[in-house]
Amino acid sequence: MKILVVGQGGREDALAWRLSLDYGTEVFTIPGNAGTERWSKNITNATPEIAAEILKPNLVVIGPESPLANGLGDRLRAKGLLVFGPSQKGAMLEASKVFAKNLMLKYGIPTAPAATAKSFDEAVSIAESREFKHDSETPIVIKVDGLAAGKGVTIARSREEIISSLTTIFIKKSFGESGKQVLIEKFLEGTEASILAVFDGKDFVILPSAEDHKQVFDNDQGPNTGGMGAVSPAHAVTDEVISKVKKEILAPLSEALQKENIDYRGVIYVGLMIKDGRPFVVEFNVRFGDPETQAILPRVAGNLSKGLLCAAEGRLEPVHFGISSVASACVMLASKGYPGNYETGFEIKGLTQNCKIENWNKEICGAEPLVFISGAKREGDRIVASGGRVLSVSGKGKTLSEAIKNAYDGVSMITFEGMHYRKDIGRRKR
Ligand code: AMP
Ligand code: GLY
Repeated sequence: MKILVVGQGGREDALAWRLSLDYGTEVFTIPGNAGTERWSKNITNATPEIAAEILKPNLVVIGPESPLANGLGDRLRAKGLLVFGPSQKGAMLEASKVFAKNLMLKYGIPTAPAATAKSFDEAVSIAESREFKHDSETPIVIKVDGLAAGKGVTIARSREEIISSLTTIFIKKSFGESGKQVLIEKFLEGTEASILAVFDGKDFVILPSAEDHKQVFDNDQGPNTGGMGAVSPAHAVTDEVISKVKKEILAPLSEALQKENIDYRGVIYVGLMIKDGRPFVVEFNVRFGDPETQAILPRVAGNLSKGLLCAAEGRLEPVHFGISSVASACVMLASKGYPGNYETGFEIKGLTQNCKIENWNKEICGAEPLVFISGAKREGDRIVASGGRVLSVSGKGKTLSEAIKNAYDGVSMITFEGMHYRKDIGRRKR
């Protein structure tokens, strides 16, 4: 079967890799990157609509949130294509935090109490109200409503921080349309984890859990990033937590989507805060996580291509989503300065000896580390950094410690000028 993957990051590289392992699958990626060209054909200089019309793939898998929120799924379906990825309405779960919060409150899905504000004055008065009382110990959370590339959430611990955040949103209008309204939310304590579930419009199946590391420096210090590494399974996700997530979050969410006439065929990423074994929803994303995907997919043992195809057809077959018992860890290497302004253009060395960018064949899914490219491009026979997050190295192992060691062994072979990464992925102090 022909699968067209839309996107150009590490998530899409991992998806293209994993799908290409399935018997009989041929993968195309639009536009792809220096990594996806190892296991798929990159299509550049075309829109996804035109590429899909010419290629006539059996399935289109849409990676990032922006095209989903812009209705690419609907446009492709209108042309008769089979798509794994929600409609524009379904993508509102991520594209509007107010929409997602209202849906959760309406259907009794556990989440932090919150209120919506449409102006600076309204937001200040809610933030200062008795309900959202805060101090240095208990902060409040301010979230811009729309997509904000992971930068739209502020954990505010003082009046100054509240005013500064709301000034950026409402007075400076730094988030544009995305900042037209905000959620003021109570702070949840606990341990974070991500659970991804594949939906076919009626039923769902869950994928292995993962734990992201959002802050740039070790010990969760420094500003938030898109994610500096992930492990799967997540420490805090016990079997009991999984059954609570199914019963208290995913089942009511599935019911909510159907009642609201959202025919959701794609993946839903549930960002969780787990406190005393109870899961609360921090956010929904309407796509695979990045870098969670790079840690999760090496553990998916079935025929993922068929699994996603069946979900897109509205007839989920859970057998295709077998979970292997190995553990997996992924460490992200970033450019100097990231997540602020960063420098690019430096050659990445060590790939050919260690991770064999050119020679990598499809069998390479044993203990050897896997490199997935997030932001790098080919310049002749060199691969050069072109993004803030440049590449990640995923390792597998019988235990999480072994997986982490394998990932860091891979990292130790790779260098580029200014490269930095966290040394404590999967080894958080608890
Ligand atoms: P979001 O984009 O909604 O996932 O928020 C980004 C990050 O902010 C999350 O991964 C959490 O670390 C943190 N966060 C968001 N909402 C809350 C909350 N209500 N309580 C505590 N932390 C939160
Ligand atoms: N790693 C967080 C995300 O994909 O949203």
